[in-house]
Amino acid sequence: MERTLVFLKPDAVRRRLVGEVISRFERKGFCVLALKLVQLSEEFVRAHYAIHRGKDFYEPLVQYVISGPVVVMVLEGKKAVDVVRRMMGETFGGESSSGTIRGDLALSDRFNLVHGSDSPEAASREIEAFFAPEELVSYPPEATRWIYDQSGPEPV
Ligand code: RTP
Ligand code: MG
Repeated sequence: MERTLVFLKPDAVRRRLVGEVISRFERKGFCVLALKLVQLSEEFVRAHYAIHRGKDFYEPLVQYVISGPVVVMVLEGKKAVDVVRRMMGETFGGESSSGTIRGDLALSDRFNLVHGSDSPEAASREIEAFFAPEELVSYPPEATRWIYDQSGPEPV
């Protein structure tokens, strides 16, 4: 099973869409391994989005993400990184497909509700940056036998 780091951006919290978005991930079958509401520091957000440093949207992006609390979580499931990215939709809300989080709930190129790791390597790095190891909880995944066929060596 793969893990990914997701956070619901300040617009999701302020628009009271936290439940709606988490509900989509739960209904898909992901297991929530860690979850918290936090105010990220400017230094932390600058580092998180360092890949965009120098781009014209970097400064407004940093100001947006530190403008209020975010809800951060670790999700686990088969192909979690790719599946979450597809559920999020394309970056610009007005261009993302209906049926996705951004496509259904966002219009802005910037206020697009959600971040998800874009590769398994980024996921490992981001999970470590956002959570202390003891914040990830493991518990018996009773529901997973109805989410995957687990009769073979790998869940299908
Ligand atoms: P994220 O990193 O937050 O998961 O989003 P993403 O991969 O879909 O998009 P990315 O290209 O990494 O951009 C990071 C965030 O910057 C804001 N943005 N604004 N032209 C603009 O004004 C612009 N482009 C991007 C968005 O909030 C985007 O999610
Ligand atoms: Mg990105």
